[in-house]
Amino acid sequence: MTNPLEEAGKRLRHVAERIRQNTSSEVDWLSDQLEGRIPGVGRNVTFSDPGPPRTLEELQAELDSLIGLEKVKEQVRALVAFLQVQALRKQNGLPEVATSQHLVFLGNPGTGKTTIARLLAQMYRAMGLLKRGHLVEVDRAGLVAQYVGMTAIKTDRVIRRALDGVLFIDEAYALSPRDGRWDFGSEAIETLLKRMEDYRERLIVIVAGYPRLMEAFLESNPGLRSRFGREIDFPDYSSDELIAITTRFANEHRYTFGEGVEEALRDIFRGSARGEGFGNARFARTLFEQSLNAQAIRLADDAGKDLNALERDDLTTLTASDLLAAARALGEGVELGEPGSRAFFRWRRKAS
Ligand SMILES: Nc1ncnc2c1ncn2[C@@H]1O[C@H](COP(=O)(O)OP(=O)(O)OP(=O)(O)O)[C@@H](O)[C@H]1O
Ligand SMILES: [Mg+2]
Repeated sequence: MTNPLEEAGKRLRHVAERIRQNTSSEVDWLSDQLEGRIPGVGRNVTFSDPGPPRTLEELQAELDSLIGLEKVKEQVRALVAFLQVQALRKQNGLPEVATSQHLVFLGNPGTGKTTIARLLAQMYRAMGLLKRGHLVEVDRAGLVAQYVGMTAIKTDRVIRRALDGVLFIDEAYALSPRDGRWDFGSEAIETLLKRMEDYRERLIVIVAGYPRLMEAFLESNPGLRSRFGREIDFPDYSSDELIAITTRFANEHRYTFGEGVEEALRDIFRGSARGEGFGNARFARTLFEQSLNAQAIRLADDAGKDLNALERDDLTTLTASDLLAAARALGEGVELGEPGSRAFFRWRRKAS
């Protein structure tokens, strides 16, 4: 007898295949939605559904609520104001100033680039500049194929999915040729540049990555520099900002911090190696998630066999020891100094 789930999966794939033979962007979108539910397909392309439309004021409030990022917020505000004025000029029959809408996001991992891109896409929708306002996030592997001629097709398909929304290319520098050698990445860039012209009104492209490498990327093709008009810098977060971000993650999930957590966090963030590869808010999120495991183990140990005896407060409180255990589990070590001393939670990188 056939497994009903397998049968349903097969049918779904068949439907996706059938509608894919049609080529409008709505159909692409629908087939992506279907594909998204089939594991293993489209791993290098992610979609952010913009959800129900929100007003520009609501989106602005969400932007304002983000921790830090003062310069970024300022630049987004300036961009939105510029676009609004241009739209008004158009309504009044005045010529638009032809500037490039495409953006470069420069920043290390976890500095909020995807978060801002998602919000911007929705802001464009709220201003009536993009019909759908979704975000399609892709990296090199999502654009480049293994065989000659296939990269253009693959890139084209991703671009079609992003129409009426924002195409966000993460680590875009991976597309530029290394050591002057040609590779399929160049085919992706050529296709992208062409489509950016073809779909001027229907597509915003954001390229993102480490500041140092993105500079080389923009220089690698004369067409790139001229099309990406604005650059937005995402600085690393300070330790205080990372503490605030971690607290926000905790509150969002109905957890509270016990005594000494803030100090523990400060030591963890201050002591972590802050290089190009530092995960910033992403590290804060992983640390928070890991601390939930530590809390669970602590509670299970404390309660012995009777987890039902735990109080509500026990379930919501994360302690300093939970966060320090989480930090250790993430592959780093903490030296415990004299209790009460400033160096109580001294942070030490693993010698590996
Ligand atoms: N300023 C902030 N305030 C609150 N939360 C933030 C802030 N910046 C980032 N976050 C949160 O941190 C996580 C990582 O952020 P995001 O994915 O936007 O970073 P990124 O720069 O795209 O990272 P990567 O380069 O690794 O893709 C997300 O859960 C996001 O909600
Ligand atoms: Mg990202």
